[in-house]
Amino acid sequence: MEKTRNVKAAADYVRARAKRVPSIALMLGSGLGGLAKEVQDTVCIPYGDIPGFPVSTAPGHAGVLTAGRLQDRDVIVMGGRFHHYEGYGMEDIAFPVRVMRDLGVETLILTNAAGGVNTSFKPGDLMVITDHINMTGQNPLRGANDESLGPRFPDMGGLYDKRLNGILRKVAEERSIDCRSGVYAWMTGPSFETPAEIRMLRVLGADAVGMSTVPEAITAHHCGIRVAGVSCISNMAAGVLDQPVTEEEVFEITQRVKGSFSALIRGLLERIDEGR
Ligand code: HPA
Repeated sequence: MEKTRNVKAAADYVRARAKRVPSIALMLGSGLGGLAKEVQDTVCIPYGDIPGFPVSTAPGHAGVLTAGRLQDRDVIVMGGRFHHYEGYGMEDIAFPVRVMRDLGVETLILTNAAGGVNTSFKPGDLMVITDHINMTGQNPLRGANDESLGPRFPDMGGLYDKRLNGILRKVAEERSIDCRSGVYAWMTGPSFETPAEIRMLRVLGADAVGMSTVPEAITAHHCGIRVAGVSCISNMAAGVLDQPVTEEEVFEITQRVKGSFSALIRGLLERIDEGR
């Protein structure tokens, strides 16, 4: 975390090693890192080797950048992200997204494991993120604004790209993947929420809850990267069922949905230019 924050130096390091310049980046959430293994013709770069890159400590996050081909697209996969609960500052979380921008990434696909707040959801559902609620009081754009990246007060209305969301829904329907749409609420963690907090989030309009994604989405949207988000509903949120929320359940369910998660993301990649 004490490393220098030079986006250009980090991007140059990655550029010099990756064979191709990716236009699509994927950030894989807890338990969803397996998709990186499906990438072909890969160049793998450990986060720790990239100047200025933080190193992820969360379980299920590999901490490796994988550049290569997936579904005939040049992609770069971030296997592991940085969470507020790990102690990272917003600038650590924003940094990799800005490195992606410098590399020429135009589309960022964010994925996560999330608790189901909407009681009609069930563990194993996938959810296309249509909007978010930031419950943390944190914002990655706090501090001096770099006008070359984006405006001081960026609009967040169109953050989750409607065209990409439409493709995700179409792919899910065609491939009979259980897929919902909804609002993701960002909590800091690392404690799971209380049942009262989940009731509050439901009243506020949240469908799913998690500890990531929102700061990366805000950072990307600010600097002009198109964003799509997919949550894997890995458990019902606190108080929905008469059982505790556990990390084990989160991992078990993410492993179970691997196949449909991969099919949904591959389907999106296949048709990513549709309707442009
Ligand atoms: N709450 C917060 N984050 C999560 C959950 C949850 O229930 N499940 C997976 N990530």
